[in-house]
Amino acid sequence: MKDNAPILITGGAGFIGCHVVKHFVNKFPDYNIINLDALTYAGNLENLSEIENHPNYQFIKGDINDVDFIDELFNTHRFEGVIHLAAESHVDRSITDPLAFVRTNVLGTLNLLNAFKRIWDDDFSNKLFYHISTDEVYGTLGKTGLFTEQTSYKPNSPYSASKASSDHFVRAYGETYNMPFVISNCSNNYGPNQFPEKLIPLFINNIIHKKPLPVYGDGNYTRDWLYVIDHAGAIDLIFHEGKDGETYNIGGLNEWKNIDLVKLLCQQMDDKLGRERGESEKLITFVKDRPGHDLRYAIDASKINKELGWKPSVTFEQGLKLTIDWYLGNREWLDHVTSGDYQNYYQKQYS
Ligand code: NAD
Ligand code: TYD
Repeated sequence: MKDNAPILITGGAGFIGCHVVKHFVNKFPDYNIINLDALTYAGNLENLSEIENHPNYQFIKGDINDVDFIDELFNTHRFEGVIHLAAESHVDRSITDPLAFVRTNVLGTLNLLNAFKRIWDDDFSNKLFYHISTDEVYGTLGKTGLFTEQTSYKPNSPYSASKASSDHFVRAYGETYNMPFVISNCSNNYGPNQFPEKLIPLFINNIIHKKPLPVYGDGNYTRDWLYVIDHAGAIDLIFHEGKDGETYNIGGLNEWKNIDLVKLLCQQMDDKLGRERGESEKLITFVKDRPGHDLRYAIDASKINKELGWKPSVTFEQGLKLTIDWYLGNREWLDHVTSGDYQNYYQKQYS
């Protein structure tokens, strides 16, 4: 991308998006970063307070489902790069409201693709549409094996089906209209600023408040965890050095059974909170399983490693400590998002 290139990051007020926005704003002072976010329950401008006054950064509140608004936005800014993270992202919510996931994840992505195509159709040179996706599109693994970029798509939840669909549309726009694109499919992220409905921040919050830790089923489900800041680094690398039309798997090389992860978290939290070891483990409560619960995700990240030289920079033990420290040091953030107070922040800041 050339200096002063206008770059759109969607979903930049969410968990991963805020780390991507901060990474790009700090590292690339010559880009014009525009963060578009609808500020749903998962979007929080407090995540971005440290960069909100940077000259190369602008926040715009808006919905990727609003066709006229998106067209107008692309006409005004003529984005040369798009890094698309905005999505409904929580599997459990997708089970109760699948349509909301189709609207944002499928139709919203199509609106962005159409707007990008409309402004650059006659000359896509040096332009890029980067779609951020998930390993969940591949479905589930058995006890062995890894997801590679060649693994067939077989999504099992409304969330992963909607992400799979958006991946297919991005690829189809590349094939049909020669739109330059890259896609990355990443494993489970953890770290600062994650909304406390996902496993790790929910359990940190519950341990603080001595509330039950609801482990689904028998807890023998496996996820491959990646520290969010390492994901942001991989996104930078793929955006700048990824090959047009390629998919990259990103993973933490770090598989944990939920129950083992929860026990480690309990231990680390007991140490940090000055509680006796074993105290938080007593909060573990096995609850009814999630319907269609995928048994195991694990990523083969050898392509991004060999082609772009990427690998995670922190171990899980280090990353988890950093994450716990962040949540314990930011109790106000946690209280705001759990009470809904964070919505007032936007009013105060932008009214
Ligand atoms: P998140 O739910 O924390 O954030 C999503 C953001 O998108 C929020 O700020 C929300 O306000 C915004 N948004 C939602 N609907 C919108 C709309 N219609 N218009 C504009 N903005 C809207 O999600 P996340 O965990 O940060 O995930 C970001 C992306 O990364 C998603 O595309 C997700 O599928 C993908 N991903 C997530 C993980 C993970 O472990 N969290 C792993 C792999 C891939
Ligand atoms: P989650 O953080 O929702 O991510 P994903 O479903 O995208 O992998 O869940 C991670 C794992 O933790 C998953 O196997 C479901 C499990 N889980 C629980 O056991 N209890 C909970 O309360 C939550 C939110 C998740």
